[in-house]
Amino acid sequence: MLKRVAILANGGDVSGFNAVIRAIVKTAEENNIECLGFIDGYNGLLKNNYIKLSTATNASGILPKGGSIIGSSLNANVFNYKVIDENGNVSYQDLSEKCVQNVKDDEIDCIFTLGGDSTQKSARDFTLRGLKVIGVPKTIDNDVACTDITFGYNTAVSVATEAIDRLHTTAETHNRILCLEVMGRFAGWIALESAIAGGADVALIPEIPYDINKVVEAIKHRQAMGKNFGIIVVGEGAKPIGGEMAVVATRDGGAGVINTQLGGAAQRVAKEIEELTGITTRTTTLGYMQRGGTPTAFDRVLSTKYGAKAMELAMNGIFNVLTVLKGGKLSYVPLEDVVGDNKKVGAVQGGTAESNVRLVTMDDDLVKTARDIGICLGD
Ligand code: F6P
Repeated sequence: MLKRVAILANGGDVSGFNAVIRAIVKTAEENNIECLGFIDGYNGLLKNNYIKLSTATNASGILPKGGSIIGSSLNANVFNYKVIDENGNVSYQDLSEKCVQNVKDDEIDCIFTLGGDSTQKSARDFTLRGLKVIGVPKTIDNDVACTDITFGYNTAVSVATEAIDRLHTTAETHNRILCLEVMGRFAGWIALESAIAGGADVALIPEIPYDINKVVEAIKHRQAMGKNFGIIVVGEGAKPIGGEMAVVATRDGGAGVINTQLGGAAQRVAKEIEELTGITTRTTTLGYMQRGGTPTAFDRVLSTKYGAKAMELAMNGIFNVLTVLKGGKLSYVPLEDVVGDNKKVGAVQGGTAESNVRLVTMDDDLVKTARDIGICLGD
C-alpha cells in the first residue's frame, strides 16, 4: 500500500510540467495517497526541500500554466555534484547517498522523475541504490529513447510553426530568405515537424550534416519558379558536412550534464546563403519561446495521461520504469532500456554520452514526407 509519493521536475522546463504534476496529485488523492513535490528537481531531493501538493491548495488551476510550480533544476547531477567550499575550491562529489537517506527518512514510497535522458539516467542510478522510481518523459526536443513522444514537444512545434507562418509573410513582402533557428541539440524533431507544418523550403537537422550548395540549389530552384523568398528552419544542433555544432558558450556543471550552450547555427547558414545567392537573408532565433507559456491541448492531454499512468503503475507496484507512448498506446519500459548500458539507439557523444537519445532516423515518416514534397534537407 502506498502512503506517500513525491514528484520532482528536472532539466529545462517545458509546457506541460504542471499538467503532469496535477494529474499525479489528482490520481493520488483519488486513492488517499499523500503527494510531495521536491523543489528544483534533484537539488530539492538533496536538500530535502519539498512542499505538500494538493488540489485544495497549490495543485489546482495549474493545467494551462507554463513553468513548474515546484521549479526545476538545470545541471544538477547529484552523482557528480559541483560543490564549492568556503575558499572557493570546486570539487565534484557523489551526494546520492544523502538523497537516498532523505527519501527513507521522509518515508516516501515512490518518486516520479519528470525529465529528459539525463534526469532518467539519475533516476535509473537511484533505482540501483534501492529507491522506487517512475520516470515521465519530458523535453521539447522529443529525444527520450523508447517513447514516441515526450510532453512539451507538441507545444514547442506549435510555437515554431506560428513563427514560420509569421516569417512567411514578411519574407514574401520583402523578397528575403528568413532563417529560423529552433531548439534541438542532438535531434531535429522540432525543426523537421515545424518545417512541414509551416511549409518551409529547407529544414536542417543535426542528424543530416548539410551541404550549403544543396541549400543554394533549392533556393535557386524556387527563384526559377519566380519565388524570390524562402524559409529555412535550422535546428540549433545542425552542422555542415565535416563541421561542428555552433557553440556560443561553455559552462562547468560537471560530468554527466550538458556543458555547452548552442547558438549561431542559423546565422552561419544565413551568412553563407546571402554570400552565395545575393538574396538578403536574415535570422530569427526562437529560443525559450518554445518552452514557456501554456501547453497545447495535445500536451495537456498527453501530460495528464502520463501523470495518471505513472500513479497507476505505482499503485500496481510497477517501479523503475518510464511511462511511454508507443503506437498511440500508453505503456511503460524499464528505465534500464531507456538510459542503461544496453544502448540500442542513437547514443551520442557529449554531456549525455552515457544516455540514449532518440534521433530522427532516415526511414522516419517525417523525413520521407519532407523529401516527397520537396523540402530540402541539405543533403
Ligand atoms: O534539451 C532541451 C533544450 O531545449 C535543448 O534543445 C537546448 O540546447 C537546451 O535545452 C538549452 O538549454 P540551456 O538553456 O540550458 O542552454
